[in-house]
Formats: sequence, C-alpha cells, structure tokens
Amino acid sequence: ATNRTFTMIKPDAFGAGNSGAILKMIEEAGFKIIALKKTQLNEELAGEFYKVHEERPFYSALCKYMSSGPIIAAILEKDNAIADFRKLIGATNPDDAEEGTIRKLYATSIEANAVHGSDSDENAEIEGSFFFNAFEK
Ligand code: CMP
Repeated sequence: ATNRTFTMIKPDAFGAGNSGAILKMIEEAGFKIIALKKTQLNEELAGEFYKVHEERPFYSALCKYMSSGPIIAAILEKDNAIADFRKLIGATNPDDAEEGTIRKLYATSIEANAVHGSDSDENAEIEGSFFFNAFEK
C-alpha cells in the first residue's frame, strides 16, 4: 500500500553540503516529496522529538548534536514507504550499512548518521506532524 514516512537530513549531512545529493537519491528511489523544509531544532525540541530515547546513554549527546546546525525535514510517500526507506538509508551505524545506501555514502558515525527514517506508520505520522501542520501535508 502507498504510505508515508518521515525523514530528516541531519546537521552533519546538511553542513557537508550533501542535502541535494541525498534528496536526489530519495527521489530516484521513487519517493514523492509531500512536505519539505529547512529548519533548526534547539536542544529542547530535539529532546521532545527523540523522547523515546530519553533513557538511552546517548540521549543528551543526540539532542546536542541534532540542534547543532540546520536540518531538512520531509514527509515522503511511496508504496511500502517505511521499509523501503529504511532499506535506502541503511543501518544506523554506517559501519554496518550496505554499499550504496545513504548512510554508507554520507554518514560519519553512529550518531552523525546523515539521515533519520521513521520506524513505523504510527511514528511517521507523529514525527511528520511534529514539523508540518495539516495544510502543509
Ligand atoms: P535515528 O535513526 O535518527 O534514531 C535515533 C538516533 O540516535 C540515531 O539515528 C542516531 O543518530 C543516534 N544513535 C542511535 N544509537 C546510537 C548510539 N549507540 N550512539 C550514539 N548515537 C546513537
């Protein structure tokens, strides 16, 4: 079924000037851009977005990193969007990511891993609504 996922191009990839190349890979993989914006989180907003990871040891570093520079947030649509997007981006840790995936090409560490991808339809809706209102999607 056609459904949606949510992605962010993270501060490392945005800062390195890789946003265009990453968006090109996303479109060439058949994803349609439903909503798109460049923005910057502060630590509090990053903490809210990643609240599910609150108890993890990397949480506070993650919030600092995610607010360290501009990001691009986007809602994407495709058949089987969640699974296909996770395949396109590759494993969280770029050392484990398959050749040709976005993280293999552009991530620099497990934290600075270039892109985010939602892990379920439910989270895609929650995460997309964090950045975009009803008229923007
Ligand atoms: P993401 O898919 O956006 O979801 C949570 C983020 O936390 C993850 O990508 C990484 O940026 C970061 N992350 C996950 N695991 C670790 C880890 N073990 N150490 C540091 N950062 C991590």
